[in-house]
Amino acid sequence: MIPWQLLDSAQVPGEGGDLRLYQRDGEFSIRVDGAELMNSRIHGSEEAMAELACARIASLPCPRVLIGGLGMGYTLAAALNRLGAESRVVVAELVPAVVAWNRGPLADLTGCPLDDDRVTVRECDVAQILGEAQRAYDAILLDVDNGPRALTQNGNDRLYTRTGREASFAALRPAGVFALWSASPIRAFGRLLGKAGFAVDEERVRARGPRGGGYHTIWIARRKA
Ligand SMILES: C[S@@+](CC[C@H](N)C(=O)[O-])C[C@H]1O[C@@H](n2cnc3c(N)ncnc32)[C@H](O)[C@@H]1O
Repeated sequence: MIPWQLLDSAQVPGEGGDLRLYQRDGEFSIRVDGAELMNSRIHGSEEAMAELACARIASLPCPRVLIGGLGMGYTLAAALNRLGAESRVVVAELVPAVVAWNRGPLADLTGCPLDDDRVTVRECDVAQILGEAQRAYDAILLDVDNGPRALTQNGNDRLYTRTGREASFAALRPAGVFALWSASPIRAFGRLLGKAGFAVDEERVRARGPRGGGYHTIWIARRKA
């Protein structure tokens, strides 16, 4: 077995831990305090989240999309593939080193979607953008932990609380779509999104896309009014 090689590490701002980028042959892994956040071999469900959400806004002439966070860029690349030339995508990434890794050792994984003219990168907490935005986005795609529980930083819990769900609702345009990735099905969360005013679909998607693998959960929630 080829051993993992540590390429770089960075402190997560706020109360976060240590974020590390590892490489083993052509495979990459991002871990926070030892727990894997993202692996380059398994990205089918991250891409499926983008496809499921963007398909629902495909008829709009100039869709505006917010993605948090960047990770290895699979969700971003899949969204750009699904969206037209007039779309605009804001990517919020909490850890500036992750943006540098995407422009450096990870650039070849997805063809460096950060270079796409439709993309704006903001090195900040996605919660900050959600707190400021009012009816600004047609879709919000969140994959910042391994589900609706804080992992990267303790403060991420606020994204999933009632206040956080209401902030996402308010940041969406009418009929806008909120999508959240989760490693495991947490039944209660779909109900909580419903209480915040969303019509909720819960999708089970394969971790490796057409190549199978385990199942991950994606909530696709449409703002009702
Ligand atoms: C699981 S990875 C995202 C994987 C991504 N969907 C992909 O396709 O590669 C989580 C990312 O979210 C970032 N992140 C965590 N908390 C965040 C926050 N509050 N705001 C913005 N980015 C955040 C992490 O630094 C990490 O880059």
